[in-house]
Amino acid sequence: MADFRQYAPATERNRQPILDVLKRVLPREGTVLEISSGTGEHITFFANQISYLRWLPSEPDALGRQSIQAWGEALPSDNLQLPPLNLNVSAQPWPVEAASPAPVSLAKPITAIVNINMIHIAPWEMCEHLIAGAERVLPADGVLYLYGPYKREGKHTAPSNEAFDQMLQSRDSQWGIRDLEAVSAIAQQHSFTCTEIIDMPANNLSVIFQRTV
Ligand SMILES: C[S@@+](CC[C@H](N)C(=O)[O-])C[C@H]1O[C@@H](n2cnc3c(N)ncnc32)[C@H](O)[C@@H]1O
Repeated sequence: MADFRQYAPATERNRQPILDVLKRVLPREGTVLEISSGTGEHITFFANQISYLRWLPSEPDALGRQSIQAWGEALPSDNLQLPPLNLNVSAQPWPVEAASPAPVSLAKPITAIVNINMIHIAPWEMCEHLIAGAERVLPADGVLYLYGPYKREGKHTAPSNEAFDQMLQSRDSQWGIRDLEAVSAIAQQHSFTCTEIIDMPANNLSVIFQRTV
């Protein structure tokens, strides 16, 4: 039988440190929407480890969604909602919004959004769309969790990040490591406060935003 699971080696390395942060910063109830679930390895792992929350994967790439579905079937959790949503942050409304022609039905409302390693591998507007969508979907006190490499005040924090940034821009001139202050400014315009910035392995950050109103 065909196995549609894909493997992203970085997820093996970063999933435990990310899980440790998520256990501390996520709300204690509700549904976590993951934006850009990729292969599905992260959400399958998180759903198994954080059973008091429900988990909802999403991914715009069809092969990615096939992989997420396959991972969810190989390592099932009662709290992992399959199939994954076809969600591109720039396409409004998101399928979890009431305004959507066919809104997905959830047993528990969305209280958090998790987005790992997307905003530097997409045009800057996708970061804006992500945060605007999070404002539309999350309630007051809802948590938006971002993970990835960042510049601080326009400067790289490590030579390896600078080399990575050059590689990204050579692949697509619209990609690149984002300035944390620019991301935070957009978040502030959309009713989010940055509550915590956590240094993670390999010069990445966990950035926690909370919806204020
Ligand atoms: C480097 S991968 C990260 C995947 C996964 N989060 C991980 O850490 O393994 C970047 C992901 O962003 C997704 N992506 C790119 N543009 C997007 C968009 N406009 N809306 C939603 N997801 C997007 C890609 O399809 C891909 O799955």
